[in-house]
Amino acid sequence: MDSRERFLAALSGSPVDRPPVWLMRQAGRYLPDYRAVRKTAGFWELCHSPELTTRVALEPLARFKLDAAIVFSDILVVPEALGLGVTFGAGEGPQLARTLSTSADLAGWKVEGAAARMGFVANAVKHLKAALANRYGLFGFAGAPFTLFAYCTEGGGSDDFLKARVMLHQQPALAEKALATLADVTAEYLDAQCEAGADTVQLFDTWGGLLDREDYVRFCLPAIRRITEPLRAKGRKVMLFVRGGQHLLPVLGEANVDGFSLDWRADWREARARYPRHVLQGNLDPARLLAGAEPTVAATRSLLSVMRETDDAKRCIVNLGHGIHKDTNPDTVAALCEEVARNG
Ligand code: CP3
Repeated sequence: MDSRERFLAALSGSPVDRPPVWLMRQAGRYLPDYRAVRKTAGFWELCHSPELTTRVALEPLARFKLDAAIVFSDILVVPEALGLGVTFGAGEGPQLARTLSTSADLAGWKVEGAAARMGFVANAVKHLKAALANRYGLFGFAGAPFTLFAYCTEGGGSDDFLKARVMLHQQPALAEKALATLADVTAEYLDAQCEAGADTVQLFDTWGGLLDREDYVRFCLPAIRRITEPLRAKGRKVMLFVRGGQHLLPVLGEANVDGFSLDWRADWREARARYPRHVLQGNLDPARLLAGAEPTVAATRSLLSVMRETDDAKRCIVNLGHGIHKDTNPDTVAALCEEVARNG
């Protein structure tokens, strides 16, 4: 089986010779070529260049035995296209010039033409797809509505995103309208990525796990379904990652997705028992990779054995439970991928 066959088989639940592997944030600062590119180009400049996005997305595939690529972009493309002025300061993370706190702020969002302003991402998918020559799987992606809403209200990173969580209950109608707006723009944006050649798309709900189950059901799931329903009606495949979402597992079936990307704290067997027909992906702890090759290989081996035991390794994708940390040694990533290739 070549990588793309293996990846598509895992997505559709067909038998595989071994589970495919890819890693969240596999293109990024832990790789020397990425750092070299960033010395010559700003972050947005990189995202807008099909040549550069393809170059950085291919680097991990050339180095490691990975089965899928992910288009190089960022979840904050959506607030940028809505006119919120997103910048990535050196070492400080993202910042938004205009934040959401009133209905006048929401009325100022430039919704019209937003999907077209993100056309450079579909273009990057098309360019990467051609370079992959159907040998690897290809992911498109976007932020889930609540995670985008969290950045829009906070104006940058935060540990607890209190502004977003307060708004849900102080101005619920405004919050629901903002979430629906983010969802509708995202649905169009992801459809364009699929049209451009993505085999599947992943919704990153990095901050969804901050909410309790009741709030997730009330605010997040309806917004996620505004994205997944039109996409899946067209046969598109959608994966959902909710960081810190173990407590949400019982309700995530209502997200209407093909599969879940499990955080490192989620229990694989429990997730599988609950969702026998879904694709499951994950869930190695990115901190394990910082501990070195040996502990990483041991964790990979035990994940593979859980996959074999619970599913005959079907509908399983090896991944991390969150993005690769920037201080990760590329040799450790190589060891992880070798282990999957050899032992899967
Ligand atoms: O291979 C890949 O997966 C790269 C594509 C990718 C990036 N961001 C590139 C990026 C993806 C899938 C993302 C998703 C993303 N972006 C998420 C969800 C996944 C997650 O990790 O939780 C979130 C929350 C963001 C928002 C974001 N973008 C932050 C918080 C930051 C700064 C700190 C950080 O984590 O790097 C970014 C910038 C960013 N996006 C970088 C990269 C490689 C680093 C920018 C640089 O080159 O300095």
